[in-house]
Amino acid sequence: MAHSEIQPDCVPRHVAIIMDGNGRWAVSRGLERNAGHREGIESVREIIRACRDHGIEILTLYAFSIENWNRPRGEVSELMRLLEEYLETEIDEVMEHGARVRVIGRVDRLPPSTRRAVERAIARTSENTGMQLVFALSYGGRTEIVDAVRRLCRDAEQGKIDPEGLDEKGFEAYLYAPDLPDPDLLIRTGAEQRVSNFLLWQLAYSELHLSERMWPEFRRPEFEAAILDYQRRERRFGLTSEQIREDEDASEGAGTDGISSRRGQS
Ligand code: FPP
Repeated sequence: MAHSEIQPDCVPRHVAIIMDGNGRWAVSRGLERNAGHREGIESVREIIRACRDHGIEILTLYAFSIENWNRPRGEVSELMRLLEEYLETEIDEVMEHGARVRVIGRVDRLPPSTRRAVERAIARTSENTGMQLVFALSYGGRTEIVDAVRRLCRDAEQGKIDPEGLDEKGFEAYLYAPDLPDPDLLIRTGAEQRVSNFLLWQLAYSELHLSERMWPEFRRPEFEAAILDYQRRERRFGLTSEQIREDEDASEGAGTDGISSRRGQS
């Protein structure tokens, strides 16, 4: 059931989440850290359902950062195992949602079995036209930008692009998923207040919602509170409030929603 106070015509189109706090959640209960990651999967499941219910088009989850490779070997292998298990066992429900799985990051660094599970999930859901479920795996925002620059330089060397004519749109075409609109809303759980190398380019104008909850305890009510928080924001994109209101009045006259017309723009 959708939350009654949420305005259905003004939900964020793209929500990105830094799922932090699994380890602390577990340790504070006398459990090993991996128990927090396992419980975190329950939250993943619940938040995907909530996104479907609210008509959110894209959900991007920071599941494993490029820096996470430096964690203790046992934790890394358990995270890989959990990812594989998730991709194998949850895919039926993902299919029922009509959702399409995508991945951003240096997937070439994943162990072969994890890579195969990722490829199978992508292939199996590739024809789905519902929400897009994007897993950031072995992902780093700076790495993404460097990877983009490397490919861009190659194209410039081969005369495919003229660096003098390069603009933001032209650069974005080299990012991992250039067709996706920027996140409207970034949620970070785990009581920390930083971006942690996530979507550095794409978060330029995203609204931030920082939650004190650890990820395993971030469930539908907390997610819906984040959506309500988002709906109270005025997104100005560098303009003044007056300009935004004029723009909304003009769009209303033209029969479109001023806020949503600004959604997903940088
Ligand atoms: C951060 O918590 C979380 C991670 C590094 C991994 C997130 C993984 C999951 C939620 C489970 C698997 C994911 C999917 C999509 C199936 P932390 O360990 O940094 O917590 P801490 O800050 O309390 O130590």
